[in-house]
Amino acid sequence: MDTKKLDALRSRKEDALLGGGLARVHAQHAKKKLTARERIALLCDPGSFEEMGMLVTHRSSDFGMEEQIFYGDGVVTGYGLVNGRLIYVFAQDFTVFGGSLSETHAEKICKLMDMAMRNGAPLIGLNDSGGARIQEGVRSLAGYADIFYRNVRASGVIPQLSAIMGPCAGGAVYSPAITDFIIMVEQSSYMFVTGPNVVKTVTNEEVSAEDLGGAYTHANKSGVSQLTADHDEDCIDKIKQLLSYIPQNCEERAPTINYTPGNELRLELNELIPAVSSQAYDIKTAIEAVVDTHSFFELQELYAENMVIGFARLAGNSIGIVANQPMVLAGCLDVKASKKAARFVRFCDCFNIPLLVFEDVPGFLPGTDQEWNAIISNGAKLLYAFSEASVPRITVITRKAYGGAYDVMNSKHIGADFNFAWPSAEIAVMGAKGAIEIIFKKEIENASDPLHAAIEKEMEYAEKFANPYHAAARGFIDEVIEPSETRIKLIKAFASLVNKVDNLPRKKHGNIPL
Ligand code: HXC
Repeated sequence: MDTKKLDALRSRKEDALLGGGLARVHAQHAKKKLTARERIALLCDPGSFEEMGMLVTHRSSDFGMEEQIFYGDGVVTGYGLVNGRLIYVFAQDFTVFGGSLSETHAEKICKLMDMAMRNGAPLIGLNDSGGARIQEGVRSLAGYADIFYRNVRASGVIPQLSAIMGPCAGGAVYSPAITDFIIMVEQSSYMFVTGPNVVKTVTNEEVSAEDLGGAYTHANKSGVSQLTADHDEDCIDKIKQLLSYIPQNCEERAPTINYTPGNELRLELNELIPAVSSQAYDIKTAIEAVVDTHSFFELQELYAENMVIGFARLAGNSIGIVANQPMVLAGCLDVKASKKAARFVRFCDCFNIPLLVFEDVPGFLPGTDQEWNAIISNGAKLLYAFSEASVPRITVITRKAYGGAYDVMNSKHIGADFNFAWPSAEIAVMGAKGAIEIIFKKEIENASDPLHAAIEKEMEYAEKFANPYHAAARGFIDEVIEPSETRIKLIKAFASLVNKVDNLPRKKHGNIPL
């Protein structure tokens, strides 16, 4: 072949690899941010990444754009392997027009999404963008909508992960919002629908970009993100960890890792529940003791801390954990906790990940704040999510299982496969104190020593109902187990459910109370 032709190709590729040029690459590094290609190189197994559309250029001619052509048009797209498994990835290149989304930039992402769908592999978006390419107007908006549409079509078919590694503002936030997981990098990323300037004009509030939509804000206040990362490398590392728990698509199972059976007794768990029922303990101690060592990968750690969610492995198999946390709000269900758990349950159900629930819940959190913020509809989300889930589902009641919350937290009645209880379980309509104040109100009032009478009645009620045996007698609890044998019981029970089939009635789709 004429070497000139080879040289022409090589020169184009060299230009493309430079993105928006060295000065802009240095500016990116000065902000402690990696470039799009550096991020992809960290994500994919060495030598596995294949770029698609490297030579794509924009078609814009307004505002002198015809003189500013950069190969790739602000986004690097392609496929590669992460720990040997196929993924599709796009990384917005901030060095080219601030990673802004043009018509062609959107076309590249859409093409990638279509391929990820057709080939049943996760889609990973590394977002770092100034939003709509201002010079392109409505063509850019159309591009966003094309992406949103595909995000929705792909939802529940392939896992979609969004890393926010720079700006993500305006309507652009809605693509990550539709995806399954959002990971934000501390200090260098933010997400908001309207930025600080607009907020100031409209509401007169003074707020920084970081406070309005930084990584901590979305981890702690809004619950929009599931994970935060200290820096770009940490972000990529967390994406890899997350991928290790989930399957390639909705037809497959999550990868398993080799597991050698050993001593599965966890004697320390017999000491976990305090003698006094009102005393708190950390449910994460139970989770960590029961699942494979160091396998618990918590999500949304700083949001609705009264509910703990995350992935783990049990005997090498991926599971999703949903657990009340007695250390925070006594483990009550509230609006945020219900939403947090419901979305996670639905993710696990979409992708064939069995669910393990640890239950210690005194009920729904009372108060005007909760009622006015629709604890009715939000609590119903969790009830709906569990009831609809057809994956293997097991509940372990460690202590309280009161009232409606008993039903909601993956009870036998809403389709759980196995319900275990520890001897410390208290399965009742409500706690003893509340109960006797209602049913023995007159008797206590009329007693010569009301305080003494109340204590006696409370003890009587607790003796009768604050235990797992009424529920076990009815078969609502399959077995009352010693805490120390929980891991053994769960390994066996999940193994027995490995071929579970539970088809929902034929329908277009349900109508979850959103
Ligand atoms: C075209 C853009 C751009 C954009 C940045 N650039 N945003 N070009 N369209 N939206 C370019 C800049 O001109 C600059 O080019 C380079 O990218 C880097 O930008 P800087 O401003 O120098 O960087 P920085 O100081 O880090 O600020 C980043 C930024 C800021 C905060 C993102 O650029 C910014 O506010 N951009 C505009 C954001 C915005 O309003 N977008 C539209 C939102 S509405 P040079 O040549 O100097 O390197 C929207 C609607 C989506 O997105 C709707 C979907 C439904």
